[in-house]
Amino acid sequence: MNNLQEWPEPIIRVQSLSESGLPSIPDRYIKPPPDRPSLNPTEKSDVNIPIIDLTGLSGDENNLPFSTLDQISLACREWGFFQVVNHGVSPGLMDRARETWRSFFHLPMEIKQAYANSPKTYEGYGSRLGIEKGAILDWSDYYYLHYLPLTLKDYNKWPSSPDSCREVIDEYGKELVKLGGRIMKILSINLGLREDRLQNAFGGENFGTCLRVNFYPKCPQPNLALGLSSHSDPGGLTLLLPDHEVPGLQVRKDGKWITVKPAQHAFIVNIGDQIQVLSNANYKSVEHRVIVNSSMERISMAFFYNPKSDIPIKPVEELVSSDKPALYSPMTFDEYRLFIRLRGPQGKSQVESLKSPR
Ligand code: OGA
Ligand code: NI
Repeated sequence: MNNLQEWPEPIIRVQSLSESGLPSIPDRYIKPPPDRPSLNPTEKSDVNIPIIDLTGLSGDENNLPFSTLDQISLACREWGFFQVVNHGVSPGLMDRARETWRSFFHLPMEIKQAYANSPKTYEGYGSRLGIEKGAILDWSDYYYLHYLPLTLKDYNKWPSSPDSCREVIDEYGKELVKLGGRIMKILSINLGLREDRLQNAFGGENFGTCLRVNFYPKCPQPNLALGLSSHSDPGGLTLLLPDHEVPGLQVRKDGKWITVKPAQHAFIVNIGDQIQVLSNANYKSVEHRVIVNSSMERISMAFFYNPKSDIPIKPVEELVSSDKPALYSPMTFDEYRLFIRLRGPQGKSQVESLKSPR
């Protein structure tokens, strides 16, 4: 995989561009007109993704009322996205994690550059997704790291400053692994499967988790750019901690872009492509993107709960019948994620291309 060794052109940190105070954005960040966001305030709407109270979901026992399971089921089918509150992760830890990362992004550039990533594993400090020369880029920098499996966890690839960084990331990861596992069980039950069915399909204890911290600097021409282009998440399940002060995430619903209004200390949960495949499209991953603005930076933490990367992922047998044949051919997550790593975010084109011919 020689073509994944290096970036095709010199990396420019979007944060440096933003801080240089330039009045207009370089051509490389100008999206073609159909992809540009509409920032018209008169189009503001009250629609939001569902907010679901998970009180009762903790420990090994799931004491969620049936009505909560139903709300989640509906949210998965209608939106592919929902927010959860009272999820058991301490609000203090959520704030500490976000603010620790904010401090990281405000460190001097030389310190961050020591973690500069390459397209080989994407781990570290990055400023683009995809390696197509001349591609139109997104207005964001990020940091990407692995928690699980332990064989991929490497503290040397995690920032060593600010001081508490590794400790906070570790604690945050531990809590999100628990929450992710609990939501996996709910999705299994809601699909009419044994509660451990999806987890087993993810490789049981050998599943993977990783974190992508997104940093969206102020943008002088937010109407021409995107912080993150439209995509569906390639993995299993995503738990996103959005910026509590700055909106930006948009979810595609019936062809329209809905701006998510984050609830206090909520996580935004969304279905990724691997659960679309395993559930034989009973649940679908949904396109989303991020818009930027000229007055406030934005930070978000996307925690990805993924299948073991080298096992074939295909629709679970219980959801396949002669009426509902398997819609997708098997593929490992390692193979699957090469697409976004080579080509960058491309809406839902990848999971669509996995449809088995008939
Ligand atoms: C992602 C993502 C949304 C956000 O990292 O995959 O969709 O709000 N992030 O930053
Ligand atoms: Ni995403």
